[in-house]
Amino acid sequence: MSTFVVVGLQWGDEGKGKITDVLSAKSDYVVRFQGGNNAGHTVYAGEDKFVLQLLPSGVLQCRGKCILGNGVVVDPNAFLNEINKIKERGLRTDHVYISRRAHIIMPYHILYDTYREEALGEKSIGTTKKGIGPCYEDKVARIGIRAIDLLNPEILREKLEKNIRIKNAIFEKLYDKPGLDLDEIYNDYLKYGEILKDKIVDTELEINQSIDRGDNVLFEGAQALMLDIDFGTYPYVTSSSPTTGGVCVGAGVPPNKLENLIGVAKAYCTRVGNGPFVTEDFGEAGRTMAEVGHEFGAVTGRPRRCGWLDLVALKHATMINGITHLVITKLDVLSGFDKIKICTAYKTEDGKEIDYFTSSTTKLSLYEPIYDELDGWKEDITGINSFDELPKTAQRYIKYIEDYLGIEVYLVSVGPERSQNIIRKELF
Ligand code: GDP
Ligand code: IMO
Ligand code: MG
Repeated sequence: MSTFVVVGLQWGDEGKGKITDVLSAKSDYVVRFQGGNNAGHTVYAGEDKFVLQLLPSGVLQCRGKCILGNGVVVDPNAFLNEINKIKERGLRTDHVYISRRAHIIMPYHILYDTYREEALGEKSIGTTKKGIGPCYEDKVARIGIRAIDLLNPEILREKLEKNIRIKNAIFEKLYDKPGLDLDEIYNDYLKYGEILKDKIVDTELEINQSIDRGDNVLFEGAQALMLDIDFGTYPYVTSSSPTTGGVCVGAGVPPNKLENLIGVAKAYCTRVGNGPFVTEDFGEAGRTMAEVGHEFGAVTGRPRRCGWLDLVALKHATMINGITHLVITKLDVLSGFDKIKICTAYKTEDGKEIDYFTSSTTKLSLYEPIYDELDGWKEDITGINSFDELPKTAQRYIKYIEDYLGIEVYLVSVGPERSQNIIRKELF
């Protein structure tokens, strides 16, 4: 068996989509296991740019099937739009399937997400307003509508009646907004069921059997560890577990079947949305990273906050995920800096120095970064494919990260294109 898990180690947008696309060329299955269309995964295929939100980033190159596992939340409208866009560009989509157990994002989830964020004002989380949180809430409350329910008119109507009664009471009484019409939603979602019926299948048995057969199965995480519902900067997080452990519950695969645990981190940090960010740089350096790295949200277009690499947070992320293979992306964006800072510890509000990540989000926002400073490099590195050809100072930067984390960097990405990689050890 050969399994590969790709997860983000910072606040998302590390370049997971690019790495998944590259690895998917040799994969028989590419499986998403959490999140929904809050993700924005950019893949360049030559001149062509694709931004995948709900579809696995393996959709372009995977030689077998692409699956949205049970842990994913699926907006059928967004799914069909994405499928149609890919089809229009002459690519196949017949290999994409949705787990019957996956929960469905309904219009009231999107509205609830929007109203709640508006009501929070300055204290908002800065969600993508795609209904992700409310959909997971209904799943845990055991009132959610699953993909399988779209195929059964009686069950769909019964569940919808119950849900709309609750949601309309909240909208009308709490937010002073109009209620929703049951029949309209029922008819729309029945139609989605009709269109999607051949794509809604049982997936966990097939995934496990394919692993047992020895196929290459790749699990693609969306978001990242610092946005994890348990281990991120709660409550400024998403509502799922974007961890290697999340694969077990989000795809139905036991831990002893997961082998290559690939963590993706940028050579610096970015964050979109609100919440603490110890190494955020409000000066020249942050602006340069944003400009050179084109740091704008792939989904919302919001500018991403930028700052130096935070090794304290990264160590927390690699520990929780048990990362075996590290990927550092966007090293090219750091070309041109005289000095490169790297955060190795935090100074707490009472002057102590700590090198572990705290569970107190309030305290974290008071911490200051303690930096080591390394020499930078001026050369353009976007055409380099071998580690030895990198400027010595760039090599030193990568080695510094490896030493701190005790994990080898197996791939360094030096540009958005499929070919712009320094692969130090072939995985398969
Ligand atoms: P994801 O959400 O983790 O898949 O990442 P996004 O696609 O949201 O954001 C990463 C952005 O950086 C995309 O625009 C990629 O095309 C781009 N990118 C990925 N790797 C590299 C790299 O090594 N260098 C540069 N300059 N851009 C990269
Ligand atoms: P990818 O897969 C970056 C952030 C939102 C917000 C918080 C909660 O492209 O890395 P949500 O809509 O999930 O309830 O929002 O999480 N967020 C992301 N930030 N990349 C993402 O995905 C994100 N998905 C959600 O900005 O702060
Ligand atoms: Mg993204």
